[in-house]
Amino acid sequence: MVPEEYFLTWNQQVGAVTMAVAGAEGDEFVLENGKRVYDFTSTSFQTSFGHTCEPIRSRIHQQLDAMPIASPKAIFGLKQQVSSDLLDVLDLPQVEGGRGKIFYTVSGSEAVENALKIARHFTGRQIVLARKASYHGASLGAMSVSGDWRSDPHVNFSAGTVRIPEPHDDPLGLATADIIRETGGEKIAAIIVETISGVNGVAIPPLSWWEAIGKLCREHRILLICDEVLSGFGRTGPAFAFQHFDLHPDLVCMSKGITGGYVPFGAVWVSDRIGEQYNDDVLACGLTNYGHPLGLAALAGVLSLLRDPEFCVKKQTLETRFCGLLGELVEQHQCVKGFRNRGLLAAIDFDRSPPAWQAFLDAGLYVVLRDHMLILAPPFISTSARLAEAFQALSKVVKDSLE
Ligand SMILES: Cc1ncc(COP(=O)(O)O)c(C=O)c1O
Repeated sequence: MVPEEYFLTWNQQVGAVTMAVAGAEGDEFVLENGKRVYDFTSTSFQTSFGHTCEPIRSRIHQQLDAMPIASPKAIFGLKQQVSSDLLDVLDLPQVEGGRGKIFYTVSGSEAVENALKIARHFTGRQIVLARKASYHGASLGAMSVSGDWRSDPHVNFSAGTVRIPEPHDDPLGLATADIIRETGGEKIAAIIVETISGVNGVAIPPLSWWEAIGKLCREHRILLICDEVLSGFGRTGPAFAFQHFDLHPDLVCMSKGITGGYVPFGAVWVSDRIGEQYNDDVLACGLTNYGHPLGLAALAGVLSLLRDPEFCVKKQTLETRFCGLLGELVEQHQCVKGFRNRGLLAAIDFDRSPPAWQAFLDAGLYVVLRDHMLILAPPFISTSARLAEAFQALSKVVKDSLE
């Protein structure tokens, strides 16, 4: 096959798997040959509201006509209203009486990048603790804390990062406490964690680990950065995954579902304690497309859905059905060892290599595969019937390929 004239991401260019698309509708891609493919991972985990979501699209259209571009210095109604609504949904009341503050970005990597910059500047410390089984983005700073294979060719840039064990290998945080003591707590700016991880296996840290991490953070005045780029905006059930664990993060990174993927966008939330520092100190962070009006418009659509009781009830019904179908899959196939799931996010473990990506595509399913795992994240606007149909097709692929 002749390589394209543009790069394909995360792949050697010759022989990379691709799909020729003509369009997309609801929870499906429409291929050039007319075939419909179920978007079982909400594309790259951003298309939470489907490909043709009217409440998001109409707001973008209106904003495109009204004011499509804005200076980072611009203050306007949409920016103020959406920021206030986002703070409502984050629901992180502060001891000081405020609700924290938002910094806007254009991607998840930039959200992480700016969270790291702010954490290091605010604390005056340089080291950041991060997990090995993690992904925080592809830019240099975000990559320096990412631990999975995607950073491996660029390891030289991980200076300033100290790795801590996976939560399930250190449920009481004892090994992490030792690492902090050896490193010197006074040198550590922050710990960055995907609250619930994504393609690295939907790892759900036990409560005991969060308690230990919280205690260590308070003891050594280390900031907690929750990376909610993938898990935020309802993906794991509640609006944010930190709401499962009653956490009090100092910074929260957001992207992907923040606009349902309709506009490249992201944000960082910071606590009042951090925000107030910059009342009289220069915040040396910024982007040309800061607070982009089209991103804000799409976010307004997303927030309207997440706050719509009818939408939330439908989503909860789908979450329950998803969990049930995952259980049935385990029962149907010996080679499926189990699954981890919260909300509409799941990792399915196989006892051997799962079927090839192309086999799923041929069966009308768009999925993400990682090692011996299949990662699923259906769009929130799917129906129970369509989800059940997708699981039936999935079960057939497993049977035909592995049994
Ligand atoms: C948890 C997490 N953080 C950060 C990122 C980086 O986001 P982006 O690809 O938008 O830069 C990703 C992307 O997959 C992610 O899953």
